[in-house]
Amino acid sequence: MKKAFVTGWPIAHSKSPLLHQYWLNEYGIKGSYEALPVEPQNFKSFLLALPDSGFAGGNVTIPYKEEAFELVQSKDQTAEILGAVNTLWVEDDKVRAGNTDAYGFTNNMDEYAPGWREKENAVVLGAGGASRAVIHAILEAGFKEVHIVNRTLERAKTLADRFGGRCFSHGWHGLGELSGQCRVLVNTTSLGMNRDEEVILPELAGFSEDTIISDIVYTPLQTPLLRLAHARGLKTVDGLGMLLHQAAPGFEKWFGTRPAVSRELRNHILSSMGLDRS
Ligand code: ATR
Repeated sequence: MKKAFVTGWPIAHSKSPLLHQYWLNEYGIKGSYEALPVEPQNFKSFLLALPDSGFAGGNVTIPYKEEAFELVQSKDQTAEILGAVNTLWVEDDKVRAGNTDAYGFTNNMDEYAPGWREKENAVVLGAGGASRAVIHAILEAGFKEVHIVNRTLERAKTLADRFGGRCFSHGWHGLGELSGQCRVLVNTTSLGMNRDEEVILPELAGFSEDTIISDIVYTPLQTPLLRLAHARGLKTVDGLGMLLHQAAPGFEKWFGTRPAVSRELRNHILSSMGLDRS
């Protein structure tokens, strides 16, 4: 029986066990996928002991994506670009790693906003760990300009330098000027996870009607930003699909079957969140 895990700190609220269990059931695979809380002081020994642990691999999430990147013996090209990993697997007694977050973002956009790749200029709100995969995915999709807007300008500048010529940095108030030229806006900040933050969310008035607004946060599913955008009649893409799509390559590595990201799976996760099917 193959075994896999997700670890982070904290990890109790992760939806990953639910979605991998759904796939194990759907494909009749005898296996397990469990949430393993590992305290920060134990993470290094946990990771180094993986080859002898009986696990085929697992996912790592906040706050371990960068530390795991430093510790693993080999990683894929996307992980090298992002400086972070989210998927581990044991191969030839070594821990190997990849990063499927950008893949998850791209597939979610392809599914819910087909045509997004033709929009040319994009805004990414936020310059933290989660923004890197989104910036990378947007550049890979062929966008001409990616504008990183962040409360702390210095962090946006560092990222723009890291990703090169098509990236530009702005402070939070730069958003107004960008609304005229950008048709894709992605929020990667934690803003909006607390429902009382609505008031400091960006003014969307300047964005034209054909703008796609996406949020990589999925709790709550309808973030204040997405609600505002929806009320203005703009196309919105929530963050749940990114979670579902990023999980598929890992499942295939550990259990040998590439799983489908279906509407039934989405509905299964939604009902666990107390939400209606969509
Ligand atoms: P993650 O790895 O999840 O991206 P992070 O590295 O802590 O987490 O980054 C959080 C992001 O949310 C940052 O872009 C942060 O802006 P700063 O770089 O200025 O800190 C942004 N963020 C968090 N709370 C915010 C708030 N109240 N207003 C504006 N931006 C906020």
